[in-house]
Amino acid sequence: MMKIAILGTGYVGLTTGVCLAYLGHEVTCIDPVQAKIDALKAGKVPIYEPGLAELMGEASEQLRFTTDIAEGVPEAEVIFIAVGTPPQPDGSPDLRYLKTASEDIGRYLSGGFTVVVNKSTVPIGSGNWVESLIRNFYEKHHEGKADGRFAVASNPEFLREGSAIGDTLYPDRIVVGADNEQTRGVLYRLYRPLIDQTFPAPSFLPRPEDMGAVPLVATDLASAELIKYAANGFLALKISFINEIGNLAERVGADIREVARGIGLDQRIGARFLQAGLGWGGSCFGKDTAALVSTAAEYGLAMPIVSAARDVNKRQRLRVVEKLLGELKILKGRTIGLLGLAFKPNTDDLREAPSLDIARRLIQHGAQVRAHDPVAMDRFREEQPDLEITLTESAEALFEDADAVILVTDWHEYLELDWAGLRAGMRNPVVVDGRSFLDREDLAREGYRVLTVP
Ligand SMILES: NC(=O)c1ccc[n+]([C@@H]2O[C@H](COP(=O)([O-])OP(=O)(O)OC[C@H]3O[C@@H](n4cnc5c(N)ncnc54)[C@H](O)[C@@H]3O)[C@@H](O)[C@H]2O)c1
Repeated sequence: MMKIAILGTGYVGLTTGVCLAYLGHEVTCIDPVQAKIDALKAGKVPIYEPGLAELMGEASEQLRFTTDIAEGVPEAEVIFIAVGTPPQPDGSPDLRYLKTASEDIGRYLSGGFTVVVNKSTVPIGSGNWVESLIRNFYEKHHEGKADGRFAVASNPEFLREGSAIGDTLYPDRIVVGADNEQTRGVLYRLYRPLIDQTFPAPSFLPRPEDMGAVPLVATDLASAELIKYAANGFLALKISFINEIGNLAERVGADIREVARGIGLDQRIGARFLQAGLGWGGSCFGKDTAALVSTAAEYGLAMPIVSAARDVNKRQRLRVVEKLLGELKILKGRTIGLLGLAFKPNTDDLREAPSLDIARRLIQHGAQVRAHDPVAMDRFREEQPDLEITLTESAEALFEDADAVILVTDWHEYLELDWAGLRAGMRNPVVVDGRSFLDREDLAREGYRVLTVP
């Protein structure tokens, strides 16, 4: 088993660290945010991710947490970079955390040959940049040259928040980009238990029955980096495509859910990511599609398909408000409830959440906005102190005297509300299904006016 250091304990870094520790590696998780490290040391997970706390408990003997980079890096055989790469106003990712992490690695690198693995989503060519930063800092802080001391690899991350543990332990594929065999060999050794699926499945997350060996895509650095962007670009455009078709379906009187089912059963298309609704959110699709477009622009290339997917998505989330305007005519003074704040169910992540744009637009129209979320309300209070909406402690309270309720996040528990009973407390029984999620016929029978997006 190997000694690993991981820089960044966010959604990706912490999941990776915990899963690698569960596989038996010795893992040091490093993050400069003292509060996160204190919480982790006390056995608390600072994000909401199903199963993560449980697995962290099981793997605790193999895990260390620290703010001090000098504690984990020198002895590590493999160092992961999993820091944030958030978008800048021009669409290109902000690489300052990646830069600091790389320089710190160069400063503290010692011991034998070390592989530095970039898991953050970064523009094509970043592997070479990280390599030169590490090299410069290594040579500044050590006697002698850095040649042969380390190599940089790319290992893009495909986990989904909300099912991060399952995605990490039972992945569709592992992609590794490196420019030499020795580096690929180290990563093969690291991932062998995952590739061969030889580890015991956690009790709460059995191995899928049809799970075989995991395909390893071993390639060069630039290809690995592009695979990540291309994967997210494609998923984003699948969603925008079904939404674009949904808008037409609405005009011609077709049911987009039937259309999605009808095309999704075609194996060349596949059923997933064809749920029409108010569009994607989250920290990845918006940022990664923007980065694709801005990287292409650096090479004098346009990306019309990816750009169009972004435009469709931007419009889509505000269609909810247009629909409500069409129905209620006046939004000033109305009370509108948002069911869900997180960008998708089973996470508390609010980055680029459609709920925020929808709330802002409703407020611009003079509406009073209420919201509920099963797990994201604390994070909302922390991150959005200026957004003037009222949070209700229960989903039920959202309905009282409301003029409309919008299903923004498809949390399973919202299906189980007593919709029939709640209708009586509303001023206007209007519900907007923003996720093709609710049983519309049932709601209509119970006296709701059901609006859909698209
Ligand atoms: N969240 C996802 O679902 C997901 C999926 C695939 C890929 N990614 C990519 O993975 C990367 C990380 O995403 P995330 O969602 O985990 O971000 P995050 O913001 O949750 O976590 C990043 C962490 O890095 C820490 N950090 C910053 N500078 C550091 C440094 N110099 N040394 C050590 N730690 C440092 C931050 O304090 C933070 O805890 C991004 O590039 C993202 O695009 C994310």
